[in-house]
Amino acid sequence: MAIKLEITNIAASYGAVQALHDVSLNISQGQTVALLGTNGNGKSTLMKCVMGMVRPSQGRIELEIDGQRHDLTKLSTQEIVNLGVAMIPEGRRLFPKLTVEENLLLGAYRESARSKIAQNMAFCFETFPLLAERRRQLAGSMSGGQQQMLAIARGLMSSPRLLLVDEPSVGLSPLLVSQTITKLKELKDKYELTVLMAEQNFNQAMRVADYGYIIVHGEIVFHSEVEALRENELVKSFYLGVSH
Ligand SMILES: Nc1ncnc2c1ncn2[C@@H]1O[C@H](COP(=O)(O)OP(=O)(O)OP(=O)(O)O)[C@@H](O)[C@H]1O
Ligand SMILES: [Mg+2]
Repeated sequence: MAIKLEITNIAASYGAVQALHDVSLNISQGQTVALLGTNGNGKSTLMKCVMGMVRPSQGRIELEIDGQRHDLTKLSTQEIVNLGVAMIPEGRRLFPKLTVEENLLLGAYRESARSKIAQNMAFCFETFPLLAERRRQLAGSMSGGQQQMLAIARGLMSSPRLLLVDEPSVGLSPLLVSQTITKLKELKDKYELTVLMAEQNFNQAMRVADYGYIIVHGEIVFHSEVEALRENELVKSFYLGVSH
């Protein structure tokens, strides 16, 4: 049961706007990789390329599952989801007029997850007990932090092996950011999930990440293990408020 994602030299554009230039990034089984970058630098575009929602104009995106390689640039989003890749999109994208439980059920669209609905729902409620208490509440009436928990739980309903989380901390108070990251860390430690997380909150991302990539104007300008990342000058000036 091993999974590995290899992104090699991809470029992507929206019309005349080139959002990614020659980006390479690898994630191996059980790793949590942080993709760090401020607004508009290409984090979501990279995730959408992995999900087949934006097609790269060059380069390769390959997912190796138990020794078998899949070329994601040739597959539909549905096929990619069926391989066990889930994305928790930016801004949560819940159905506000549906209940917590109904939102969770909609997360189980992956074919192989349909037979495991009861099991996955129990797992979500165990991970996020608050969602069990509020299973009949409309998603739109929950607080921002609660909605983020629901968005993560909905991602887990598809039994993913690779989870892409696009800026889980956006719009949350520092306390809720910290709680959300703690949950992601718990999931990673307990279930060996492999995670790619886009974040602007450097310190929170570092609590959970094993490895980090810094993206600036659609290019990876630095990548390393987290310890070396803290010492990087770019990181210090962009994220840690150290001025020179
Ligand atoms: N659908 C689109 N049409 C045209 N340009 C787009 C589209 N989506 C993104 N872009 C552009 O591509 C670039 C990268 O955007 P992207 O959403 O990947 O950045 P991001 O790092 O996720 O930013 P944020 O932190 O604000 O979410 C930006 O210049 C953006 O304006
Ligand atoms: Mg984004």
